[in-house]
Amino acid sequence: MRPNRTIHFASDNYASVHPEVLAAMAGADGGHEPAYGADAVTAAFDEAIRATFGEHAVGFPVFNGTGANVTSLLALSPRWGGGVIASEHAHIHNDEGGAPEKVGGLKVLELPAPDGRIIPAQLDRYAPDLGDEHRAQPLVLSLTQSTEVGTVYSVAEITALVDAAHARGIKVHVDGARIANAAATLGVSLKDACGGADVLSFGGTKNGAMLGEAVVVLNPELADSLGHDLPYVRKQTMQLGSKMRYVSAQLTALMTAVDEAGDPLWLRNARHANTTATYLRQELEPLEQRGIVRFTQPTQANAVFVEMPRALADEVRKAYRFYDWKPGRSDETVEVRLMCAWDTSGAACDAFAAAAFASAGIGA
Ligand SMILES: Cc1ncc(COP(=O)(O)O)c(C=O)c1O
Repeated sequence: MRPNRTIHFASDNYASVHPEVLAAMAGADGGHEPAYGADAVTAAFDEAIRATFGEHAVGFPVFNGTGANVTSLLALSPRWGGGVIASEHAHIHNDEGGAPEKVGGLKVLELPAPDGRIIPAQLDRYAPDLGDEHRAQPLVLSLTQSTEVGTVYSVAEITALVDAAHARGIKVHVDGARIANAAATLGVSLKDACGGADVLSFGGTKNGAMLGEAVVVLNPELADSLGHDLPYVRKQTMQLGSKMRYVSAQLTALMTAVDEAGDPLWLRNARHANTTATYLRQELEPLEQRGIVRFTQPTQANAVFVEMPRALADEVRKAYRFYDWKPGRSDETVEVRLMCAWDTSGAACDAFAAAAFASAGIGA
């Protein structure tokens, strides 16, 4: 019997494992298989990566998003490089405990991005540093799709940004912890949602996996060199799993398990999470109409960012977990992040909204 746990709004990491992922893990179980990725399940993962991201794409399963990011950035940075341009909200900048700096020896070079998106002209901020031996060389751009604040680069926007970086000799990494949510919003493939970037941290955990992400080399011109380097880098970043088949099975299920309509699991899960976030926002709109809360970002993927009185947030938090994002415009307010996952139900949104209305002293 599965316990009937509360659906919270803190993170898509709070969610359960999708049954089709669990079934894939069970299918990978039993008997012995060669370790460290030399197994038949990882061979199927390799095939799924090529089918999903192009015939030259190479994928490397890893354990978590921080590991995928640091491994990707290290692989993309030359020995004498080390500067990584990223937005002020970037997970690599704020939420990885300094791992890019400590483990990777990298320096994050911050750009303002109020809605999470960087625009091409901003790359000029670090252009003068190129060729100056006194400066960390800004040779890699790391962008996040969908962004940390729930916005999505359009295909035109991300393509223009990637092209602008390439024109300046800068390689591009996509933190794709939520690339599935972006692709679902845009109605494009996972590959197209990356806009021609070089390397992707392909997220599985927030999209219904138990644990598992992959570093994917997207740029065919880098497939040989990075394909050669990455096994060593992954080992050194402690992201090489011995029983890799269980991670590979999860990611393969996300890419290949289709429903009757032919939709892969990644798309079904992301679409659900996105739709539910839009629904949650609609449910909370009466509070905005009464001037009690204020939405602070567009809801383009699976998150709702909303500023509310601290007292209201604290009251609702008695029943539901969610994160404060940053202080609000006044001391009495706080901006919070409400995150929906593949398993967040409409009923859970209704119950959350009812709790918010009750806490605000109004009827739904
Ligand atoms: C944008 C982004 N990147 C990467 C990650 C992955 O982090 P972790 O190392 O916790 O798997 C997260 C998780 O919250 C994230 O939001």
